[in-house]
Amino acid sequence: MIRFRKPVLDLTRAMKGELMTQQRILSWNNRVISWLRRLKLRYRLPRRLSRYLSATSLQSVQRYAESPASPPRGALFEIWRSIPNGFKWLNYFPIYERILSEFRARPIRFLEIGVYHGSSLQMWKKYFHPDSVILGIDIDPTCVQFENADSNIHVRIGDQSDTEFLQRVIQEFGPFDVILDDGSHLCSDMIKTFDYAFLNGLTDRGVYFVEDTHTNFWGHWRDQPYSFIDLCKDLVDYSHAHYWGHSGIDVFASGNPQRLNAISVPRIGSEIEEIRFFDSIIVIHKNKSRALPVVEHL
Ligand SMILES: C[S@@+](CC[C@H](N)C(=O)[O-])C[C@H]1O[C@@H](n2cnc3c(N)ncnc32)[C@H](O)[C@@H]1O
Repeated sequence: MIRFRKPVLDLTRAMKGELMTQQRILSWNNRVISWLRRLKLRYRLPRRLSRYLSATSLQSVQRYAESPASPPRGALFEIWRSIPNGFKWLNYFPIYERILSEFRARPIRFLEIGVYHGSSLQMWKKYFHPDSVILGIDIDPTCVQFENADSNIHVRIGDQSDTEFLQRVIQEFGPFDVILDDGSHLCSDMIKTFDYAFLNGLTDRGVYFVEDTHTNFWGHWRDQPYSFIDLCKDLVDYSHAHYWGHSGIDVFASGNPQRLNAISVPRIGSEIEEIRFFDSIIVIHKNKSRALPVVEHL
């Protein structure tokens, strides 16, 4: 009995030891793989600028001014600081005020991606017209506690990159006058969500915000080489797509009967009226009935 038990114990210990060594090797492998992945995805400076801009433009300076000591003024900021658990970069408030104040006079439908502790849902509810519908979506099921259907604050749980989920919430509550992506901040999610929600979830003159785009430059959130900011830079080209195949002004001239039939462009470009780049916020204005520019020579 004794002679029999000892080898079994030794064998178990040996197997345990081998298993631990294998686990250690595996964990090192994973670490190296994730380090190599991060190295591959890391942000690289756009070096071609040095080919086109002078050294003066690119010289290193320390020229930022300190942010104002007094907080930003405005209704939105006052509402935000009256609600506990808020967390926002202060430079966002004037940007939101500038663009969203025109939406305050009438009831709107507002979608915020990313609920967290629900404080921004309350902020938007207080900021917009009292009959507005505020919908928050979040991947975290505990966020459902921030729903207050009687006050028209709704919460739905799902993944922002899941287009079937987006389709369901758009059917239930949309189309939205304003969509704000303050969700995972992963480049891939920002792009997938925009790809579906801009065309399918916004009203014809709606506005699409993406917050915290500085994360596009930061390791964890940069999960692919092509960032949301890269996409928006390319969208500037796409919003000029009517000029791509037509050099010269003839096709755009007023009175040219072929004007509208001669030009076809990718849909995404034809529905973007304006793209605004702020520090860490990008705003894309939609216009489904965008007019072809016309040129007149008097
Ligand atoms: C920055 S917080 C939102 C903050 C909130 N908008 C505010 O201002 O108070 C980000 C939220 O996004 C959620 N989130 C992360 N990944 C997501 C995904 N794939 N789909 C939907 N929500 C996601 C997180 O659970 C978290 O609550």
